[in-house]
Amino acid sequence: MSGHASAAEQTDPTSWPTAVANPGYAGDTGEFPQLTEDDIRGLTYVGLRPRDGGHASVAGTLPYQVAEKRPADPIFVGEYEERLVKVLSRYPDRQAALLPALHIAQEIRGHLSAETMDEVAERLQLPPAYVRGVATFYTMYNLGQVGKYLIQVCTNISCNLCGGDAVFEAFLDATGADAGAVSDNGLWTVMEVECLGACGFPTVVQINDRFFENVRPEDVPAILARLT
Ligand code: FES
Repeated sequence: MSGHASAAEQTDPTSWPTAVANPGYAGDTGEFPQLTEDDIRGLTYVGLRPRDGGHASVAGTLPYQVAEKRPADPIFVGEYEERLVKVLSRYPDRQAALLPALHIAQEIRGHLSAETMDEVAERLQLPPAYVRGVATFYTMYNLGQVGKYLIQVCTNISCNLCGGDAVFEAFLDATGADAGAVSDNGLWTVMEVECLGACGFPTVVQINDRFFENVRPEDVPAILARLT
């Protein structure tokens, strides 16, 4: 599978791979016999979402956050203001663009503090109470600080049946973090989450904006080593 896309590649639509039909489930690669099982459902991440939200199919699913957070930076300036303008152009009104605007804020700041929510409200000219109500409703927004790497382990039914709890414990052991808290070195926050929508590939783990599939407890040290 392809490696890490550079920042330039992520924002250049001409560099994105050509979409093909889903080649199938493990062991049945259909019309793509050259693909191995590892190619399809290997232990590497599935893919990166374009950071500018530029691809129509991911307009509503901007990355949740990146590892290089800059909590002291303003939110909507430079490339981030450009991204917001692009997002706003896709929605009928500012209210409808609130979720992606909050994602951008979280990407930069790492979490949505009350002050951050107020900044988003001001930029979108929405009532601060409305923005706080929306932001606190969705679990994908962090209302408190998280580590450089936010590790979300699915322990919902499909992943649970395939050892999700053991994977969760393995991440806690390997990072030394308490569940939901930032580790002492500031690197890790490990939390259990509900279904990540990839139930065919349990156990599924999302680390910042990447998906890891088929994760087993014994895979955890190698995954962490890749990140640091
Ligand atoms: S149950 Fe884990 S991804 Fe759906």
